[in-house]
Amino acid sequence: MTDTANQRSIDTEKRLAAEAAAELVEAGMSVGLGTGSTVAYLLPALAHRRLDVCCVATSPATFGTARSLGLDVRPFTGIDHLDVAIDGADQVDPAGWLVKGGGGAQTREKIVAAAATRYVVIVSSNKMVESLAAPVPLELLAFGLDATLRALGDARVTDKPASPDKGVLAGYFGPIGDPGKLAEWLSAMPGVVEHGLFPPAMVSDILIGQGVHVHRRCPGD
Ligand code: A5P
Repeated sequence: MTDTANQRSIDTEKRLAAEAAAELVEAGMSVGLGTGSTVAYLLPALAHRRLDVCCVATSPATFGTARSLGLDVRPFTGIDHLDVAIDGADQVDPAGWLVKGGGGAQTREKIVAAAATRYVVIVSSNKMVESLAAPVPLELLAFGLDATLRALGDARVTDKPASPDKGVLAGYFGPIGDPGKLAEWLSAMPGVVEHGLFPPAMVSDILIGQGVHVHRRCPGD
């Protein structure tokens, strides 16, 4: 397959997964909207359904696009729970661990995922991996940045602009090994606002576009 044909089939898989996820949304629901190129297919598919839903967005980019498509998207203030959240991922391992944050939105994405009763992950088949690979995206506090980087060891700042919450976007390049242990270590590190490892317990469904089909997996299946 040429690179262009390969990219086209990945895009088709993203679109199919996103459209399947849009079908899971029902009128009256509160919906968390993720960030990225897969979610870019979700937004028009959801808007097309013209449901009476209230949405929150995980990034200014998603907020703007969702609004321009006519979705009722609101600041995540005064809303303490979401019925469903739908988002892409950079990598999904066989146990259902995710690496997220390629777009730098992992902190807001994790807050939205944690607030949702059902968290649906939408991916093309190339995101399914045997084991997670570095880097793990990080959001770091600017205060004491060099000391935090030193404590992390194998981590460096990216050239991405600061997060909407003024966090410094970085990557952890050390070994991943057991994702649960690494997630615990990163979460306990002073100066780390959030990391891009999302545990299987957070994930309700993984919708995988594969060729012209969508497969549904639940972590633990
Ligand atoms: C954004 O920060 C990320 O977590 C994205 O959700 C993730 O990188 C997937 O993005 P794509 O759908 O563009 O692959």
